Amino acid sequence: MTSRLENHVAVVTGSSSGNGRAIALALAKAGATVVCSDRTREALKDGYEPDLSVPTDELIRSQGGKAAFVAADVVRAAQVEQLVAEAVARYGRLDVMVNNAGVFTGLHTILDETEEQFDFTMAVNTKGVWLGCKYAIAQMMKQAPRPSGSRGKVINIASIGGLVGLAQEPAYCTSKGAVVNLTRQLALDFAPHRINVNAICPGFLATAMVRPFLENADTNKLLHDLTPWPRVGTAADVANCALFLAAEESEWVSGSMLTVDGAFTAR
Ligand SMILES: NC(=O)c1ccc[n+]([C@@H]2O[C@H](COP(=O)([O-])OP(=O)(O)OC[C@H]3O[C@@H](n4cnc5c(N)ncnc54)[C@H](O)[C@@H]3O)[C@@H](O)[C@H]2O)c1
Repeated sequence: MTSRLENHVAVVTGSSSGNGRAIALALAKAGATVVCSDRTREALKDGYEPDLSVPTDELIRSQGGKAAFVAADVVRAAQVEQLVAEAVARYGRLDVMVNNAGVFTGLHTILDETEEQFDFTMAVNTKGVWLGCKYAIAQMMKQAPRPSGSRGKVINIASIGGLVGLAQEPAYCTSKGAVVNLTRQLALDFAPHRINVNAICPGFLATAMVRPFLENADTNKLLHDLTPWPRVGTAADVANCALFLAAEESEWVSGSMLTVDGAFTAR
């Protein structure tokens, strides 16, 4: 175990699968105590992790790290508030909040997208991040700063779909565009308080969310053709960047959109 994040307490939403799981594991490996949170402790069955049957918090503890699981649906304000309160009650403070939980309802134009799909996507991807920011920042403002002066770090998982239009993803792009600009807005308000608010904008990744498209020969080719790098991304690619944004080395990085997309948005 390295100790880059020793004595740091982190909350990761959507931690049972994909990016959230990889981020929770990476933060714990760097020494953080991680409160893993999701609707359910079980991983989505379509995930690519070799050890899917082991819940993230249990895997962290089996590797010698510190972790607990707290169930929360990020759409429910009272549950997100309780998640932050529980982390603080158990471990005394909150240094890193990773708002990662997200959903994608499939490829279709606005003509075929239903109002229910739009509302669901906005609720989880946008309101869920807003709630996570709200309760995390309230706690960060209350607690004593770290010896470095930092009051806390918020990392929102947006998407390249928040920066550019992606074909046939109207609600998803709307929801992630909102996360991008919420991140910039919060970075401004809380920079004077030394709270960093950044977003990661991943490109196409091999996770449960994208598995149906990677398993279909046509969409698999499309995702690879759209990605300039010779492979699609992985949850570990995202986790490595989250680690940087959680650590002291990124002190003067705030309001940034860190693309992790194999050069997709470099066009
Ligand atoms: N996979 C990609 O290609 C990709 C690309 C860009 C951005 N992202 C973003 O990364 C984040 C994670 O995606 P992933 O690919 O790991 O997806 P995933 O579907 O593999 O995992 C998402 C996790 O979030 C949880 N979750 C969903 N709704 C929730 C809710 N209401 N409350 C709490 N937890 C909830 C799920 O249970 C699951 O464990 C999302 O915000 C997604 O939009 C993914």
